[in-house]
Amino acid sequence: MSAIETWGEMVRVEHAQSDRRRGVRPTDTWNQFAAQFKADPHRTDDRTVEALRSRLLPGETLLDIGAGGGRLALPLALTCSAVTAVEPSPSMCAVLRETAEEYNIDNVSIVESGWLDADVEPADVALCSHVVYVIEDVGAFVRKMDSHARRLVMAVVFESSPLSQVYGLWERVHGERRHALPSLPHFLPVLEELGIQPEVTELDTQPPRTFDSAEEAREAVARWLFVTPGTDAMDRLDHVLQDALREVNGAWQIEGAQPSIPNIVSWETGRN
Ligand SMILES: C[S@@+](CC[C@H](N)C(=O)[O-])C[C@H]1O[C@@H](n2cnc3c(N)ncnc32)[C@H](O)[C@@H]1O
Repeated sequence: MSAIETWGEMVRVEHAQSDRRRGVRPTDTWNQFAAQFKADPHRTDDRTVEALRSRLLPGETLLDIGAGGGRLALPLALTCSAVTAVEPSPSMCAVLRETAEEYNIDNVSIVESGWLDADVEPADVALCSHVVYVIEDVGAFVRKMDSHARRLVMAVVFESSPLSQVYGLWERVHGERRHALPSLPHFLPVLEELGIQPEVTELDTQPPRTFDSAEEAREAVARWLFVTPGTDAMDRLDHVLQDALREVNGAWQIEGAQPSIPNIVSWETGRN
């Protein structure tokens, strides 16, 4: 199997396992999570934003593919001449729209669409942060990013797939191995197959997610594991969490959760 085929197969297998667990796939899978993707566009303590900003030239245009709630699109819009945010989730688009209005950022236009269906003009730079893990046709997705960037493509990709910190809990609650989504080690061979030689920059390691209370942790883990209240699976999760949650100085953590390592994978397209 080629790297592109392997990637597609990993996404299909993970999605099929998720669908088996949750029953019907919601039309907007981000509904419950969108609010977490709101962030102050003027924050100065986000090293990812600074690393991306340092690669932009003054006055450039940016295409943010899978922009979510605008966590990156909005701060970068403060430096770019214009940002086009392509985002298929209505709940994410709502957060992005509200945050742009709240901070009076008026140079971001939103295209509510998946990337492969989006009809947009090329920009100087194409950005795609924490999106590729769920893209089945990664070859077409990357080729379209490349063809829509006049100068530079930047993809932010974790070393391990985003929810890998709860894969162990999945196994204990559901009694089967969680199929992993692809991540950086699978992305680089995909790019090689596409004839792309990227530069990879490792960003600051992000500590495992913490929660303000055991109840907040329980609710988040239940959502990630597709476990609903009042079921046998919830009873099993409660049992597992008795020894899988620990409190350190008032912050609750999942025992054994690993830090996440984000990377910027970038390449010049040479069309400017
Ligand atoms: C983890 S969020 C990341 C959001 C944002 N880029 C960030 O880093 O905060 C992933 C986003 O990718 C979007 N997405 C999923 N499939 C997509 C597709 N085919 N085309 C464009 N965006 C997609 C989701 O709707 C979601 O908003």
